[in-house]
Amino acid sequence: MRVKLLGEELVAFRDSRGRLGLLEERCPHRQASLFLGRNEDCGLRCVYHGWKFDVDGACVDMMNEPEELGFAHKIRTAAYPTAEVGGVIWAYLGPAEARPPLPQFAWTQAPATHRHVSKVIQESNWLQGLEGGIDTSHVPILHRTLTTASARPGFNPADPFVRGKAPTLELDLTDYGYRYAGLRPLEGGDVHVRAYHFILPFHQIRPARTGSGHRGFSGAAGHIWVPMDDETTMVYNWEHSVTDAFTDEDRLERRLGNGPLDVDQTTFRSRRNRGNNYLMDRRVQKTETFTGIDGVNAQDRAVQESMGPVVDRTREHLGPADKAVIQARRLLLQATRTVEAGGTPAGIEPTYYTLQPAEAVIPGDTDWRALLAPDAPQPEVLQRV
Ligand code: FES
Ligand SMILES: [Fe+2]
Repeated sequence: MRVKLLGEELVAFRDSRGRLGLLEERCPHRQASLFLGRNEDCGLRCVYHGWKFDVDGACVDMMNEPEELGFAHKIRTAAYPTAEVGGVIWAYLGPAEARPPLPQFAWTQAPATHRHVSKVIQESNWLQGLEGGIDTSHVPILHRTLTTASARPGFNPADPFVRGKAPTLELDLTDYGYRYAGLRPLEGGDVHVRAYHFILPFHQIRPARTGSGHRGFSGAAGHIWVPMDDETTMVYNWEHSVTDAFTDEDRLERRLGNGPLDVDQTTFRSRRNRGNNYLMDRRVQKTETFTGIDGVNAQDRAVQESMGPVVDRTREHLGPADKAVIQARRLLLQATRTVEAGGTPAGIEPTYYTLQPAEAVIPGDTDWRALLAPDAPQPEVLQRV
């Protein structure tokens, strides 16, 4: 299958021995697409002149040159290493000597019955998606329902997340990025807390309110925003239940709008998209939900794509509620400079493996940090912001 990653056009295949190959799409002979190729015995063969490549990119056979010539041995095509972790195929496109440890997030280590992953294309720059994912202040606004009676997806007005006043953000810089919480004061002195993690460069971990969450237990969920090119992103959506197994119904992701009912499973384009105004319904917007668009993540894609493919950030007016977005930009710029100077960026060390998010109503004088995986090793806090 075709894969577009960081602006590179690639093809992925699983060979007859089950090994994964991720090769440059164009055949090094005369640039025909290997997507048209034949998946043969231990290799992918270009259908134009029959050059065949193994998963490591070595040319192992040519049908249009005499074998005695030995020309095949001199040809290689670009091949990237991959790993299957948590039901996802991960690829590494960087220099071989800087290859990081495998991405063993807690969710990738969960049994398949207790994790769920889907993917959907977003028609914007990846950073716009990421910035939405670490922006807690929008969540009970954009995603709210207007009445407690509405069966449409969203956060109900009776929910303390929605009832709480505007949030204060507290953020701890760590070696993987940061953890932060939105603290929303409630009537009577309690505080609603929602605590997230941002793992550089493109991974969010948030409290789960999806699927299994409706049955009264929770877990973690998150997104990974993978740049296909500057204006297109493949968003991976994962959920991790720490109690019951996910059901087939959970895996439809009706609430988020990322499942097979909402996203074409061949093209991974959302059925609600820019071209049809996300099937927005003004009557529903007036009476039932804040947006009139069904699907929590369809609502996210709508606003984030509406900013344009690459938003003009010089025109923004950021406030204290944008603290997490501001810090993410600073960390990403720092990481860029670190890599340019030949160093190792943050987010590589395996300190993020055990991270869990949290959501709770706590007394106003309690520290939210105590909610975060109290039994797991706590990350070292480099700075409180
Ligand atoms: S273009 Fe692929 S073998 Fe000729
Ligand atoms: Fe959102």
